[in-house]
Amino acid sequence: MCGIVGYIGTKDAYSILLKGLKRLEYRGYDSAGIALIDDLNLNITKKEGKVIRLEEADCKKEGSVGIGHTRWATHGEPNDENAHPHLSNNGSLAIVHNGIIENYGSLKIELKKKGYHFSSETDTEVLVNFIEDIQKTESLSLEDAVRVALSKVVGAYAIAVISKEDTNKIVAARKGSPLVIGLKNGEYFLASDASPIVEHTNEVVYLNDGEIVVLTKENYFVKDAKDIPQTPYVQTLEIKLEELEKGGYDHFMLKEIFGQPDSIADCMRGRLNVDTGNLVLGGIQSYSKALQNADRILIVACGTSWHAGLVAEYFIEELCRIPVEVEYASEFRYRNPIIKEGDIVIAISQSGETADTLAAIELAKDRGAIVLGVVNTVGSSIARVTHEGTYLHAGPEIGVASTKAFTAQLTVLYMIFLKLAFHKGTIAQNKYRQLLTELGKIPEKAAIALKSNEKIKEISKRLKDARNFLYLGRGYNFPVALEGALKLKEISYIHAEGYPAAEMKHGPIALIDEQMPVVFIATKDGSHDKIISNIQEVKTRKGIVIASETKGDAVIPKMVDYTIEVPVTHESLMPLVSVIPLQLLSYHIALLRGTNVDQPRNLAKSVTVE
Ligand code: AGP
Ligand code: GLU
Repeated sequence: MCGIVGYIGTKDAYSILLKGLKRLEYRGYDSAGIALIDDLNLNITKKEGKVIRLEEADCKKEGSVGIGHTRWATHGEPNDENAHPHLSNNGSLAIVHNGIIENYGSLKIELKKKGYHFSSETDTEVLVNFIEDIQKTESLSLEDAVRVALSKVVGAYAIAVISKEDTNKIVAARKGSPLVIGLKNGEYFLASDASPIVEHTNEVVYLNDGEIVVLTKENYFVKDAKDIPQTPYVQTLEIKLEELEKGGYDHFMLKEIFGQPDSIADCMRGRLNVDTGNLVLGGIQSYSKALQNADRILIVACGTSWHAGLVAEYFIEELCRIPVEVEYASEFRYRNPIIKEGDIVIAISQSGETADTLAAIELAKDRGAIVLGVVNTVGSSIARVTHEGTYLHAGPEIGVASTKAFTAQLTVLYMIFLKLAFHKGTIAQNKYRQLLTELGKIPEKAAIALKSNEKIKEISKRLKDARNFLYLGRGYNFPVALEGALKLKEISYIHAEGYPAAEMKHGPIALIDEQMPVVFIATKDGSHDKIISNIQEVKTRKGIVIASETKGDAVIPKMVDYTIEVPVTHESLMPLVSVIPLQLLSYHIALLRGTNVDQPRNLAKSVTVE
């Protein structure tokens, strides 16, 4: 996601837009830019990096009509050329865009045939030239050209467009990405959320999907996609500015936990089509043969990303029947590993800047491996040094404790290897469709898992003073136990250990007493009976047991001290929902212990040192 702003009124737009972009920088900070109309000139300044770089740039600042953008790249790495605003070929139109134009490739081909040229790799530059082409060809007003163009676009967008041929106007539209209008007499504001607007006015209109708004210095009007006038619903905002940037949540971590239904859906957008059974992952297409012929797969990562790799090991071996080895990047890089020419290495990273993972990638490449990246941050170092890769499209993750990136990594890895299993023929067509359909349901199941939040908040009050925790799981839920323990450790500072449930009897069971909370991820799967025995072993020794279990489980709730329900899904997809209660448990315990949830002590969001 990114942040877009707009202003039309009686004041100088530059300072209003710049301040608005700073308010939206949490939404993305790969690059920033502003377009201003001054008399009949359209002046664009845009810079890679944070908004401060734009502020330091020498630029024309005159004009009372303008738009601005702070970018979270999805198409085209962060640099000056790919920064927004983008100019159309004839130099008349400027656009800023939040979202993804899924059919930009075909549109670009058609525009090139008509002689259009492109200076960036973005989908957005295609859109602004598509609008120009329609406006010229059909002699339409700016707003009508935008409406016609958007009727032919597939994807998610919030856009704002200005024209030097129509200087008293901003045209904006949204579908799938948010857009808010601020109303003040003789001035209108536009932004991705209300945080840049509230200091000017608290009268706002939240645009609905499919709507187009035209702002002039005198008035504004809203129409739907069919050009039918709409009566805008004007709201008076009470919320505080600081809360807005967190979307009303107290912390970015909580916002990102609750944003998982959307971020998981965003990972699949334009890639997974449940109706047709299509799975299109552009990034690694050119290595699909190498993947099919791989006789083993290595995964290198750190922390939460390493846990995602462990989950992937289970479903890759189950679905694709290819041996998988998951390596701590920090160990892999120093232990002189055996790597054969043509080995496939998957590097998983949210930030794309983790030093140990980068070093492991270089080592693997030096020894002839093919390295594919599964990364969230577009244009990051790992995205650049790997042979190919697939972006998560989960949006910026601000909280140091990784949450939505974990479920996004699992979603992307699952798509890659479900598709591979189908092409290898290691799963039948009906199994493939069944799993694809189940994957498509995960966003709604994640939303159901989030409904346990209040119950988990209550459970946290009873456990917040514990000095040690154990997290236990079997099969697919063993890596989830590790992830749950890591979440608790890193934000509440309570010692916690994840362990395979069956391993308890080989030592850790000596730790159990009435002071020891034990979290079992006990969702219904092939080992359900076994985990019931493990719970019994702990209860016999007076341990406190918290069990996340599948809705409707008749046995476990009677055995344990606390239960948290999660919706049922296929065993191989269970981690995508069973991790959510553990994220919430760590969050609420940390909150009660007064730690800094978003920026825990000693930690950094991206570990770029060894
Ligand atoms: C997870 O909550 C931690 N913040 C940390 O373990 C993180 O997963 C690890 O540093 C790897 O980061 P990356 O995914 O950006 O490479
Ligand atoms: N898809 C556009 C790009 O990559 C916009 C991304 C965003 O929402 O920031 O530039």
